[in-house]
Amino acid sequence: MNEIKAFAATSAESGMAPTTISRRVLRPDDVAVDIEYCGVCHTDIHFARNDWGMTRYPVVPGHEIVGRVTAVGTDVTGFRPGDRVGVGCLVDSCRQCAPCGEGLEQYCREGPTLTYNGEDRHDQSPTFGGYSEAIVVSDRFVLRIPEALDPAAAAPLLCAGITTYSPLRHFGVRPGHKVGVIGMGGLGHMGVKFARAMGAEVTLFTRSPGKVAEAEKQGAHKVVISTDEEQMAAVAGTFDFLLDTVPVQHDLNPYIEALSYDGTMILVGLLDSVEPPLDAGGLVFQRRALVGSLIGGLPETQEMLDFCAEHDIACDIEMLDIGEINAAYERVMQGDVKYRFVIDMQTLAAQ
Ligand SMILES: NC(=O)c1ccc[n+]([C@@H]2O[C@H](COP(=O)([O-])OP(=O)(O)OC[C@H]3O[C@@H](n4cnc5c(N)ncnc54)[C@H](OP(=O)(O)O)[C@@H]3O)[C@@H](O)[C@H]2O)c1
Ligand SMILES: [Zn+2]
Ligand SMILES: [Zn+2]
Repeated sequence: MNEIKAFAATSAESGMAPTTISRRVLRPDDVAVDIEYCGVCHTDIHFARNDWGMTRYPVVPGHEIVGRVTAVGTDVTGFRPGDRVGVGCLVDSCRQCAPCGEGLEQYCREGPTLTYNGEDRHDQSPTFGGYSEAIVVSDRFVLRIPEALDPAAAAPLLCAGITTYSPLRHFGVRPGHKVGVIGMGGLGHMGVKFARAMGAEVTLFTRSPGKVAEAEKQGAHKVVISTDEEQMAAVAGTFDFLLDTVPVQHDLNPYIEALSYDGTMILVGLLDSVEPPLDAGGLVFQRRALVGSLIGGLPETQEMLDFCAEHDIACDIEMLDIGEINAAYERVMQGDVKYRFVIDMQTLAAQ
């Protein structure tokens, strides 16, 4: 076991503070990674604050991890010390079930092992995420970071990137489609970039008038202020797809009305019950679909990283000293980040 520095929350109210954790001795299929960068996902905040009632403390968040390989287990052939690699939201799964067989480890029937707040399938120890100096991960769950990508700006691709890329790909977004992205934070700004790169006509729905010019820079053709009923009414019946990244309960009905017949609304932000209630008529009368989507599997995550390298797509990031993490959480809560914080993990040494 290796003792290393990390940042953890110890209760819903504690905030993040320095701690030490241990990383396991390498198993034959393991890759050891020194962490250089870790993105700050809104999910980290949900877990740190126990918003979903399932946090096991202490929790070391972080599932947008980029670093360098320092050592590999005896069976590892695909990675070598010095390689630049990524680790996303998953570190293991059953590897036997139908979804695992299809490379959809996120939908593992036994439940995948999450990078943090999970439980190791071999020794039942808690998993700890990327707000730490190093991580040890089975090689199947390690991604290659293409040379062409800036490593800090690539980190958020491991969650914000794949979560928006996967459903747009799965549902076949292509030129001619009208796609709306709801909310422009970490996920939303990547959704705009991907939908644009896939050839769609892209509209951002935002409650923040200050983001209009920004959205156009990100690749949106149009912007709708979602709190403006007139603007919402003007786009009724027009969208093939809507990608909803809003992290809190909100009225879905006006968005369902914005879908064309046969249109699909994809939820990625909301894990709660739908409040106010959904009007099923809005779906039935126009054969519209409401679906959800969870991150993406390992093969598709690699495909997304390669797509970003090919299309020159990166996250817009603000670099962060880990000592500022609690203030950064407050700024994320206020929607005040353009558009993802990435922690420079070298700053952990000084803590
Ligand atoms: N399904 C998955 O696999 C998956 C993966 C990662 C994250 N998530 C979840 O996705 C959600 C978004 O994550 P993120 O990291 O992108 O968060 P984020 O950076 O905080 O962005 C969320 C955006 O939603 C809008 N928004 C926030 N609060 C709102 C409110 N009260 N009402 C209306 N709009 C609001 C804001 O955009 P505007 O200012 O433009 O309106 C905000 O920038 C989180 O709940 C996260 O847990 C899901
Ligand atoms: Zn995430
Ligand atoms: Zn499985």
